[in-house]
Amino acid sequence: MHKVKIHTLFEYLLETTEAEPEAFIGFSLAQPPQLKDYLADLDPELSLDWNGQDFRGLPALRQNVLDRSALDLPLESVLITAGAAEANYLSLRQLVGPGDKIVTETPGWPQVRVMAEAIGAELIEVPRQEEEGWSLPLDALEEAAEGAKLIFLTNPNNPTGRLIPEAELREIAEIARRADAWLLVDEVYAGLEWAGPRPPSIAGIYEKGITTGSVSKALGLQGLRTGWMICQDQGAIQDAFILRENASEIMNILGEVIAEIAMREDRYAAKLNDARSQAISTLEQLDRFVEAEPRLSWQKPEAGLIGLARVDGIDGDSFARRLLSEQRTFLLPGSSYGQPDHIRIGVGGGAAAKLDLGLERMSALLKTLP
Ligand SMILES: Cc1ncc(COP(=O)(O)O)c(C=O)c1O
Repeated sequence: MHKVKIHTLFEYLLETTEAEPEAFIGFSLAQPPQLKDYLADLDPELSLDWNGQDFRGLPALRQNVLDRSALDLPLESVLITAGAAEANYLSLRQLVGPGDKIVTETPGWPQVRVMAEAIGAELIEVPRQEEEGWSLPLDALEEAAEGAKLIFLTNPNNPTGRLIPEAELREIAEIARRADAWLLVDEVYAGLEWAGPRPPSIAGIYEKGITTGSVSKALGLQGLRTGWMICQDQGAIQDAFILRENASEIMNILGEVIAEIAMREDRYAAKLNDARSQAISTLEQLDRFVEAEPRLSWQKPEAGLIGLARVDGIDGDSFARRLLSEQRTFLLPGSSYGQPDHIRIGVGGGAAAKLDLGLERMSALLKTLP
């Protein structure tokens, strides 16, 4: 077994944590709530022990997860995890072995590349097509899928915000079925769709489909470290559950209790409404900004709070580093996603991100480029 290597996204974050930026362009989560928003619904007598609890996650939380994902599946098909990151980790680590083939998209979430390398699996990347709004070519996916053990996709896509609509998702399920491959669709950004309805979760469509998600993005609760894995296959859930016992072990009771409250129907709808109305206006603002900057171009995201923009005249790494050192403004370089000519920009993080200031400073840096 190979060591787990750092991925360039995390490496860049670590390298730059001491820079103390004053503005951020590209946070990917909605305005984070505060603890006081939940106090009225919390029981002060709550025991912070997990004894006596269901180790797969609070049943009420698992039910909320299924309901908010419009899935009519039994509770046994859900495992609550330490974020979507852990759900992805458990799935990849238990379902894929050395020499197995994994198919994924690029650009996409780098966790799958790191895990494939650590497991000693072969990774085949299917390039999304920038000139077609970062669409995923299904013919290329079908070709790559032959003999694959697992297909790993994000919907909405991180980092481009492209959506795979329902009809395409059903075609992808057929591709996976023909290859007898697991199909993991990470939908951590679900709930903030701009160009069409929220696509269905793969766990409801395909018997070897795995849906991963969390409260991190649309609900802004990434610090709770609470997410999930959903799959009709009880064996896959059981294997993940067993592996998890050797990592974060049992449940995070406080995270689950707050997530359960946040995912109740009324609260969830209200938070999504707020996040959507904020994001719609800030995304418009960012789109106008990109339009007005001759050195920038992008395919406006169809969902979520981030997108990938092409910068002319400088590589994305140098641009991100200069923006940070000269303008105290943070964004992620596209190299974090294997796209060196791009930068990741977005409108998340709420007021603390100081988007207006960040854009002013990005504009100042763009003006200095030859
Ligand atoms: C596509 C994708 N999957 C998973 C994660 C991890 O999220 P979580 O906080 O739910 O672990 C992220 C976070 O940025 C993400 O973008």
